[in-house]
Amino acid sequence: MVMGSNEAPNSFLPLSVVKSSAWWQLLCGALMRIDILCLFPEMFVSPFSHSIVKRAEDNGFVKVVTHNIRDYTHDRHGTADDYPYGGGAGMVLKPEPIFEACEDIGQLTGVGNIPTILLTPQGRPFTQRIAAELAAQPQLMFICGHYEGVDERVAEHIVTDELSIGDYVLTGGEIAAMVVVDSVVRLIPGVLGSDESAADDSHSEGLLEYPQYTRPEQFREWSVPPILLSGNHGEIAAWRRRQSLLRTALRRPDLLDKLTLTDKELAWISDSLSSQR
Ligand code: ADE
Repeated sequence: MVMGSNEAPNSFLPLSVVKSSAWWQLLCGALMRIDILCLFPEMFVSPFSHSIVKRAEDNGFVKVVTHNIRDYTHDRHGTADDYPYGGGAGMVLKPEPIFEACEDIGQLTGVGNIPTILLTPQGRPFTQRIAAELAAQPQLMFICGHYEGVDERVAEHIVTDELSIGDYVLTGGEIAAMVVVDSVVRLIPGVLGSDESAADDSHSEGLLEYPQYTRPEQFREWSVPPILLSGNHGEIAAWRRRQSLLRTALRRPDLLDKLTLTDKELAWISDSLSSQR
């Protein structure tokens, strides 16, 4: 992860040469570039310095660059927010530094029309499907709101999408951006190894994932379901599918409404639920 927007990936090259995405990708070897605009870039250091996001960066699948909105203010105090017109509680992020930062990032990377996502509790609910769509983009930009929100002109004239990670209010968009970036990066083709495939993840097919077990086969008085030790891959796949259906029916029945299930599956769910009552 890189903090600050104006650094060229190779100090021998003038910025004007680096101002094309093709050059940027050639120099960095990165398939996707993610810029994050926020008030607290330091918050991203630890979460992105471990595990899969770190490995994805090290292996050149993604480059994450954080930018401090205050770096684009022009007064002595670095004023990024102001009182809301019309009165009311809280402060609103000013438009000028955000516009300047976005223009700077767009120029730096040579890409116009970068998908630009505002993290806000008013956004559309973030889902695995949206994560998969974003993972197919060559470049993304995230704007993290704070205080009472962001001047509406940012949403109207820069932002291409608004996302919420849930119906609750965080102190700022940074944690939401971490959630979204983490779930997007692991879906970039090649980032997960074959033994870490995302295909069976909860939500990848609209269902919750089946229960998983590892060694030991017997732990205290609890043993692993015998079918998983049978070596019969067809039977195991069928058991997992049924477990996914049952788990989803019990925990998230709203998800089942969006799926087309076979009559056999529907009957099996109904029988299992009635035998559990
Ligand atoms: N900023 C504050 N709360 C948020 C939420 N629930 N989702 C996205 N961004 C936010």
